[in-house]
Amino acid sequence: MTRTYVVTGAGSGIGATTARLLRERGQKVIGVDLKGADIEADLSTPQGRVDAAAAATAAADGRVDAVIACAGISAPIPKTISVNFFGVTEFLTALLPALGRSDAPRAAVVSSMASLQPNSPEMVDAALAGDEPKALEIAGHVVAQGPEAAYLVYPSSKRALARWVRRESITPAWAGAGIPLNGVAPGTVLTPMTADLLASADGAAMVDAAVPMPLNYHQPPESIANLLIWLTSVENTHMAGQVIYDDGGADATLRGDDIWSWNDPK
Ligand code: NAI
Repeated sequence: MTRTYVVTGAGSGIGATTARLLRERGQKVIGVDLKGADIEADLSTPQGRVDAAAAATAAADGRVDAVIACAGISAPIPKTISVNFFGVTEFLTALLPALGRSDAPRAAVVSSMASLQPNSPEMVDAALAGDEPKALEIAGHVVAQGPEAAYLVYPSSKRALARWVRRESITPAWAGAGIPLNGVAPGTVLTPMTADLLASADGAAMVDAAVPMPLNYHQPPESIANLLIWLTSVENTHMAGQVIYDDGGADATLRGDDIWSWNDPK
């Protein structure tokens, strides 16, 4: 049966690949992006998210079977917290009524292995509290401290998003409504986002030091798209709140073999 998917970031990279693979498999895709998609929208603003969700719902005749949120930016600027966190969470939330009309609703987002990197706990907390003005203010302070501190904005956005997925996935709005909500955390994906950085030997060495990928090295967007497609397929009936590190082994390398003992008796 044909399912209707809303894919953000459908104009480039992982989102474009996901949209293409879904269409090749006969699914209906409504792409959302700043440009080059069915619905042109700016997910960095509250109004842009509301308008995009309304346009996507209308294009889907009111019933959306799955949402895959890929739109994001990696720039060390305050806007990154708006696009990567609020542009995902508020957009998904606005689509809950349309998802509720599906027989098998699903949602998946793109976090990052950067969720494991140093970040700003205050920015993460403000995002998780749903306070975008405060998150932007904190991001502004962080960016003003210089280039090294500015880099904290992206990992903060992805840490907050990964935590939001775990927290929201088990609530009445998601699990209670029968909607699996999960995320994917890529390593270094070969898309326009990383092209400039990887073009120089120095840039690539810097990326590889932070993101070690012993399995097959830098990954094509298909490696993420196929997982997003499974997470939002009818087959996924019981996975909730997971952020899957699909990253060439970066997470296992960085965090090691014991991520379970945190709650063992001391
Ligand atoms: P990309 O730059 O190729 O595509 C991102 C898309 O998001 C673009 O089409 C862009 O126009 C859209 N977008 C940006 N701001 C927007 C806004 N305000 N409103 C609507 N659309 C907007 O990048 P890529 O690599 O495909 O990234 C997709 C997701 O994967 C992002 O969330 C990124 O943070 C994440 N990611 C990427 C990694 C990589 O190595 N490329 C690694 C880990 C995570």
